[in-house]
Amino acid sequence: MRQKLVVANWKMHGNLASNKQLLEAYIANLSALKNVGVVVCVPYPYLGQAQSMLQHTNIAWGAQNLSKDPVGPFTGEVSAAMLKDFGASYVIIGHSERATAYCESDENIATKFVQAQAQGLTPILCVGETLIEREAGVMEMVVGKQLDTILNTYGAAVFANAIVSYEPIWAIGTGLAASAEQAQSMHEFIRGKVAALDKSAAASLKILYGGSVNPQNAVQLLVMQDIDGGLIGKCSLNAQEFEKICLTAA
Ligand code: PGA
Repeated sequence: MRQKLVVANWKMHGNLASNKQLLEAYIANLSALKNVGVVVCVPYPYLGQAQSMLQHTNIAWGAQNLSKDPVGPFTGEVSAAMLKDFGASYVIIGHSERATAYCESDENIATKFVQAQAQGLTPILCVGETLIEREAGVMEMVVGKQLDTILNTYGAAVFANAIVSYEPIWAIGTGLAASAEQAQSMHEFIRGKVAALDKSAAASLKILYGGSVNPQNAVQLLVMQDIDGGLIGKCSLNAQEFEKICLTAA
């Protein structure tokens, strides 16, 4: 059975003082939790802080992006090896807030996915459709295409022990989460697509749901068969709300 995983995505929030408080609360609230993995993805400058505060706890940490290149003259970029230097074990890839604003192509995202793995990081690949695409009924086609770039270039085996986060763009930061049925149906589609090529990779692939997860809707979502956890934005900035979601997952 796949263990549930709850990932905090702090986005561009926090500072040294507020992070310290929040991480102290995470440690106090979540250290004794069993049967669930907890990860916090912080802005780059705070990786060192996350490392020093979390290194002897059961909470892992990671980043929200990485460079598609391993090293070189790429001003402003951060490589997978640099993330590893700060003890990161996860990295979010292709989040729609980046993919749209910074015009990230599926090809770039695919390269980042394998670049992360090459350095021993677990990629958390975000996929999802817009509201217009859902209303037009083409959400599976859209998400399928996002996965195809990786599947066609690198094969299905790269999804073994990786993480995909289904993040309907219309649900992110809007307070309007997908229903448990909508999410389950897309998660089943994603797992099925990988399973058609590699059953064992599909079985070990964790598929998280992200988009307005809160302590109220977490139960309905997390109980679904193919929902292996959540990627939590806003509610991860509140230690009590994040704790409730982690408890639900556990
Ligand atoms: P949200 O963000 O929980 O604030 O909707 C989710 C995400 O962007 O991963």
